[in-house]
Amino acid sequence: MASPLKSLVHDDSRYQKSFQLFLERSSEHQCMRDFIHNILPDVLDSIGEGKSHLNVIGVGSGAGEIDLEMLSKLHQKYPGVTVDNEVVEPSSQQLHNYKVLVSETAGLEYVNFTWHKMTSSEFELYLKREKRVKKADFIHMIQMLYYVKDPEATISFFQGLLDKNGKLLIILVSGESGWGKLWRTYRNELCNTEISQCVTTGDIKSFLDSRGIRYQNYTLPSQMDITECFSEGDEKGELLLDFLTEVLDFSKTASPELKAGVMEILRHPDCSVESSGKIIFNNNLEVIVLNQLS
Ligand SMILES: C[S@@+](CC[C@H](N)C(=O)[O-])C[C@H]1O[C@@H](n2cnc3c(N)ncnc32)[C@H](O)[C@@H]1O
Repeated sequence: MASPLKSLVHDDSRYQKSFQLFLERSSEHQCMRDFIHNILPDVLDSIGEGKSHLNVIGVGSGAGEIDLEMLSKLHQKYPGVTVDNEVVEPSSQQLHNYKVLVSETAGLEYVNFTWHKMTSSEFELYLKREKRVKKADFIHMIQMLYYVKDPEATISFFQGLLDKNGKLLIILVSGESGWGKLWRTYRNELCNTEISQCVTTGDIKSFLDSRGIRYQNYTLPSQMDITECFSEGDEKGELLLDFLTEVLDFSKTASPELKAGVMEILRHPDCSVESSGKIIFNNNLEVIVLNQLS
C-alpha cells in the first residue's frame, strides 16, 4: 500500500535543511573523507593511464564538498592531467552552493566545470538527444540512488558510459545499517513508492550478483547522533526525524501508532547504541565500485 504521508523530497527547502543538520549530527562526510584519502587513490589506479585529460561526472553532487575532495585526490594522482567535470544536480540551491564553493577554492585551474541543473534521468535523456559519444573515466553517485525510479537501470546506463579503465562509484547506506533495519520494518509506511527511497547497498549487490556483474565493495563505519529526536517538540529533533523517515513533518502527520513504532525502533539495539546519555544511530555506508562492462 502506498504511504499516505507526504514525502520530504517534495519540499526541497526543508529537505536541504534537514540534510545539512544530518551532516552536522553524523560522521557521514568524515567517513567519506577517510575513504577518499585512504582507499580512493587505489581505486583510481588505472583510470588515467596514458591520458592527458579525464572526464568526470558527478550525479546528485549536492553542494560539492565531497566532489572537490575527490577531484583533489585525482589531481594528486595525475598532476599534469586536465579534468572535465560535469555536475548533474536538480536542486538550484545546491548547485548554487557548489558554484560558491568552487569560487572559494584555490587551485582548481585544472578543472573545467559544466553544470547540469537536472535529475539523472533528465541527464540520460539529454545525452541520448545529444547522441553523445564521449566516454567517462570516473562517474560517482553518492547518496543519490534513493531518488531515482529505477536504480538498476540508472546504474546500467551510467556503467555504459564508462571508458576502458573507467570506474563508477556508488555510495549508499549499508543494508546492515540502522537505516536498513528501519526500512525493512516500516517499508510500507515510510517509503515513497514513486522513487526507490529505501534502497541499500544490499539491494544493489543482489542485483549485481544476479547479473554476474563484478564489483568491489568497502564498508564505511559511520554514526549519527539522534538524541534530539527524543525531546518532544524539539525543532532540530523534528528536522532530523523528517530526514530519518523521509516524511515531511513526520511528528505532526504520522499516526500515534506509527510514531511510537518508529521511535521505538530508532533506539532499538539493532539500530542504535546508547552511550553517555546519547543515542547513536548506525549510519554505516557502503561503497560499490564498478568497472566498464566487458
Ligand atoms: C543526500 S544528498 C547527497 C549530496 C552529496 N552527494 C553528498 O553526499 O554530500 C542527495 C542529492 O541528490 C540530489 N538529487 C535528488 N534527486 C535526484 C535525481 N533524481 N537525480 C540526481 N540527483 C538528485 C539532491 O538534490 C541532493 O543534492
